[in-house]
Amino acid sequence: MNILLIYASNSGGTFLSSGIIVDVLKKHQHSVVVKNVREADPSEIGNYDLIILGSPSWDYQGKEGQPHQDYLPFLEKAKDKNFPGKPFAIYGLGDSSFAYFTGAVDHLENFVKNIGGKLITTSLRIDGFYFDQENNEKKVTDWAEDLATKIA
Ligand SMILES: Cc1cc2nc3c(=O)[nH]c(=O)nc-3n(C[C@H](O)[C@H](O)[C@H](O)COP(=O)(O)O)c2cc1C
Repeated sequence: MNILLIYASNSGGTFLSSGIIVDVLKKHQHSVVVKNVREADPSEIGNYDLIILGSPSWDYQGKEGQPHQDYLPFLEKAKDKNFPGKPFAIYGLGDSSFAYFTGAVDHLENFVKNIGGKLITTSLRIDGFYFDQENNEKKVTDWAEDLATKIA
């Protein structure tokens, strides 16, 4: 399968998680292109069999639970596009001490729904990545292995 993984990251946790997901999917013989959302364009969505979106949750303009700010131009540009039935998977890093834990995942799920895409797995929500990195990396690996099973 041809897969596009798009991520954004501030302190590197979402970036590290992307690497884990890519390694697992490549091990299962998939082709994966990885892009920082700053380099991604919504017109590319149609070129891939599966799109994976990853984002930390952040606050700006007084609102918690937002996707990484770099996602905003991408989401804005894509919002009037339509990709009926296009498979998507979403993962998000956050911290449950915030009011909207992994709110970015909810935003991205809504985005997928609005452009007619289809979520093919339950979104992954990681709490406090660096506070228990080993265990959280295992959760990312397990999620990616499960995703690989679903697209086999
Ligand atoms: C200023 C700031 C705001 C944050 N806002 C939220 C939030 O609203 N919801 C949440 O679940 N996590 C929030 N977090 C936690 C981050 O999403 C979490 O630390 C994540 O692992 C960062 O991912 P990254 O290493 O890829 O940047 C916030 C962290 C900071 C520093």
